[in-house]
Amino acid sequence: MTSTTVPPSADAAAAGCPFHAAPPVAPNGCPVSDRAAAFDPFEAPYQADPAEALRWARAEEPIFYAPSLGYWVVARYDDMKAIFRDQILFSPSIALEKITPPPPEAAEILARWGYAMDRTMVNEDEPAHMERRRLLLESFAPEALAKHEAIIRRLTREAMDRLIEKGEADLVAEMFWEIPLVVALHFLGVHEDDISLLKAYCVAHTLNTWGRPTREQQLAVADQVGRFWSAANAILDAMMEKPDGEGWMYFSIRKHFERPDVVPLSYLRSMMMAILAAAHETTSNATANAFRLLLSDRAAW
Ligand code: HEM
Repeated sequence: MTSTTVPPSADAAAAGCPFHAAPPVAPNGCPVSDRAAAFDPFEAPYQADPAEALRWARAEEPIFYAPSLGYWVVARYDDMKAIFRDQILFSPSIALEKITPPPPEAAEILARWGYAMDRTMVNEDEPAHMERRRLLLESFAPEALAKHEAIIRRLTREAMDRLIEKGEADLVAEMFWEIPLVVALHFLGVHEDDISLLKAYCVAHTLNTWGRPTREQQLAVADQVGRFWSAANAILDAMMEKPDGEGWMYFSIRKHFERPDVVPLSYLRSMMMAILAAAHETTSNATANAFRLLLSDRAAW
């Protein structure tokens, strides 16, 4: 990838200018444009409206290196699709690598909870990935998902009724956060009694992996993640005692008993925790962004 705009300070810095810092350079040696250097997904523009904040990139620099992340950013849908489809050239193995390196004390806290997150489907290379995926895919087929329609409609109607009575709403707080979580737990087969317990921990897992926590937050988050791991394990253990229940985790447990070589216990434990973040925050954020667009663009509505 090459960039067309070299920061004005580049020549000065190359000549050893004492007043300008050397311009950032991508790992492959390409210069980083001013806009790429300024891009920070943790700051307000991207947080408030991700699609808008990357409009310039889609138009002018669809793949760029972001020094703030140490990652290459891909802004166009077709490029993303091509990358996700090519698991050989683009390994997913670093997908769950923490963005902010943790202090050693965080690892000690996690160890006290027996935290042992292993690879799950999202960060697993071939050929292991496809073998497992084939075995566990059934519940994600459209016809299998159709049976969840009734509960999704019920939850949405109930939330809408509450909003209508009040006459105003914070849609994220009152709809888009809670409903995807309840739907995800229903899909997994987790009992409603456990929902409030898991709710508190989901954010900790995301902040731990993709956030930019301070040192103090890292320690608090490590404790929350440890508790999350332990709670998820207790739920899984109870499910494994009666593996004939309905839901994707029960389905995965039965596959584990049939083919422990493809679906080992370590995978079930890791997935029980990882899937809550995979299914919840993604859907909540995507729904919020979609409604933001619909409510601000009458043509799209
Ligand atoms: C809008 C919501 C969602 C977004 C943006 C999203 C995003 C993603 C992305 C980017 C991947 C990696 C794809 C790849 O590496 O090829 C992935 C994989 C996965 N997601 Fe989601 N996801 C969403 C909702 C969900 C939900 C609701 C569930 C479960 C109920 C889920 C379960 C999974 C699983 C199991 C994988 C691994 C699939 C595989 O590697 O074969 N996701 N998701």
